[in-house]
Amino acid sequence: MTIIAPSILSADFSRLGEEISGIEQAGADWIHVDVMDGQFVPNLTFGPPVIAAVRPATKLPFDVHLMIERPELSIAHYAAAGADRITVHAEACVHLHRTIYQIKELGLPAGVAINPGTPVSVLESVLGDVDLILVMTVNPGFGGQKFIPYSLNKLRQIRSMLVERELQHVHVQVDGGINEETAKLVTEAGANVLVAGNAVFAQADRAAAISLLR
Ligand code: DX5
Ligand code: ZN
Repeated sequence: MTIIAPSILSADFSRLGEEISGIEQAGADWIHVDVMDGQFVPNLTFGPPVIAAVRPATKLPFDVHLMIERPELSIAHYAAAGADRITVHAEACVHLHRTIYQIKELGLPAGVAINPGTPVSVLESVLGDVDLILVMTVNPGFGGQKFIPYSLNKLRQIRSMLVERELQHVHVQVDGGINEETAKLVTEAGANVLVAGNAVFAQADRAAAISLLR
């Protein structure tokens, strides 16, 4: 069953709590929280204080995507702020294996994200340690960008790597340019968790937007 994780990056930041409660009512499964530090990506969003402030707005899991340098320095703060799962970028971790275990030792499922320019081979030595792989389908930093078609090849490669190793339980998440049309393509290629910002928040009827993605 496909998991829909709307990204609050595209929400109205002046009413973030209401927006989050709204998409829970509209049928979202997870809340995708795009943390950006203005270093790893050319945009800056929010950190632990804002996440803690909106935590009471929903019971849905906060799926925290850290697009930040040196995530190992602040993982514990995101856990304390209310993250239910934390994903770090392979490109931001000198010690990726150690950082994954830092998340797991906090009792949270750990995810690893790779950018469009990063080959899936960097995941090989940690596939057995993670709960989720995030394949960025745009270059991270902004919502509303165009889906990068080569992502489908990467999804297929990852799916076969997981099947080969009997790791089918690992979530395969996509993020960026996901809409009614690309949702079908990525699901067929092996994704089971779809992040969508604009495709949900730019619509007045978010329940309809979410069901279109399923
Ligand atoms: C990285 C962000 C965005 C966002 C999704 O830039 O992670 O990809 O979540 O944005 P949309 O769905 O609007 O492309
Ligand atoms: Zn994201």
